[in-house]
Amino acid sequence: MNKDQKITCSNIWKLFGPDEKRIIKNLDKSLSIKEVQEKTGHVVAVKDVSFSIQKGETFVVMGLSGSGKSTLVRCISRLIEPTSGTVKMDDVDVTKMSSKDLLELRRNKMSMVFQHFGLFPHRTVVENIGYGLEVRGTKKETRLEKSMEVLKMVGLDGWQNNYPRELSGGMQQRVGLARALAVDPEILIFDEPFSALDPLIRREMQDELLKIQEKLQRTMVFITHDFLEAIKMGDHIAIMKDGEVSQVGTPEEIVANPKDQYVKDFCEDVPKYKVLSAGKVMRKDCSNQSKELFKNKSDCILDNSKIETLIDKLVESDKIYPVVCSETGELLGEIDRSIVMRSMKSKT
Ligand SMILES: Nc1ncnc2c1ncn2[C@@H]1O[C@H](COP(=O)(O)OP(=O)(O)O)[C@@H](O)[C@H]1O
Ligand SMILES: [Mg+2]
Repeated sequence: MNKDQKITCSNIWKLFGPDEKRIIKNLDKSLSIKEVQEKTGHVVAVKDVSFSIQKGETFVVMGLSGSGKSTLVRCISRLIEPTSGTVKMDDVDVTKMSSKDLLELRRNKMSMVFQHFGLFPHRTVVENIGYGLEVRGTKKETRLEKSMEVLKMVGLDGWQNNYPRELSGGMQQRVGLARALAVDPEILIFDEPFSALDPLIRREMQDELLKIQEKLQRTMVFITHDFLEAIKMGDHIAIMKDGEVSQVGTPEEIVANPKDQYVKDFCEDVPKYKVLSAGKVMRKDCSNQSKELFKNKSDCILDNSKIETLIDKLVESDKIYPVVCSETGELLGEIDRSIVMRSMKSKT
């Protein structure tokens, strides 16, 4: 396993039914989910899924309701036993762990945040946040100190002695987030944490989490059914359909090259300029003018700059700008107003 990889899933299958282990052994893997259900009475929730999650990234699992997101992610933490396949974390095979080791793993290495906050109603905010530390046997003083630290991080300063019912939905989810962060987990798993919140609060929470992630750089697995949320939060996105991963890539890779109609339909709603970068839309054949400009090193644009950040510059003038590779500084292509306008309008 590559040292930058934190989690690797290989050929994960999950069947729900009375005899999943026997059924999978003899399963004709080319059958559709519907056919398997008709023939065996078993539900195929996850079908042969493989991917790797890099250390410190936010990996989004996105798909319509019922596509297998929650089941897949629960297989990673073994809250659900996969029928077959392996999950590795830092070279440790999670699928082979004893229940004692699993308990340790869940206590010390990973935290989960769910859509329904699951707070204890009779505990104050600060007591809710400190729960994971309490389970771990952390001293009261240390617990309180740590809980107050994360309470501030999620913007709930002053609310420590209130009860969950006294908080709005958005604030309750901040408590959920703080509780997950309090144990300093290496891995955070979010199952549609913002789906029940109003749009404005939701956006606020997304921004908050991005800010926290910028600071903490933990490995995050984030489930959502909302493609725009996926694009915003994800370093990589896995798109699921009927238990299978239909495409994995960066938001830009997916929006620039959606693999099938299912993915294309999601991309329809995405403002392209927010996702695409200069390197993706540039003209590769450079004019003499931009070669000249490149030679003089004047006004070059980096290939990984998002169109959004270049709009003012590119829409106001008729100039041509050379596009250079951000890493090596070599000339890759050129970009001008017409290219940008086209990229903003284009359907993928
Ligand atoms: N415990 C269960 N028993 C039987 N079928 C289940 C169970 N849990 C989930 N499923 C089925 O597995 C499929 C995937 O569900 P789920 O992982 O919850 O999807 P998502 O999180 O993407 O909405 C669905 O068809 C669902 O009905
Ligand atoms: Mg779900």
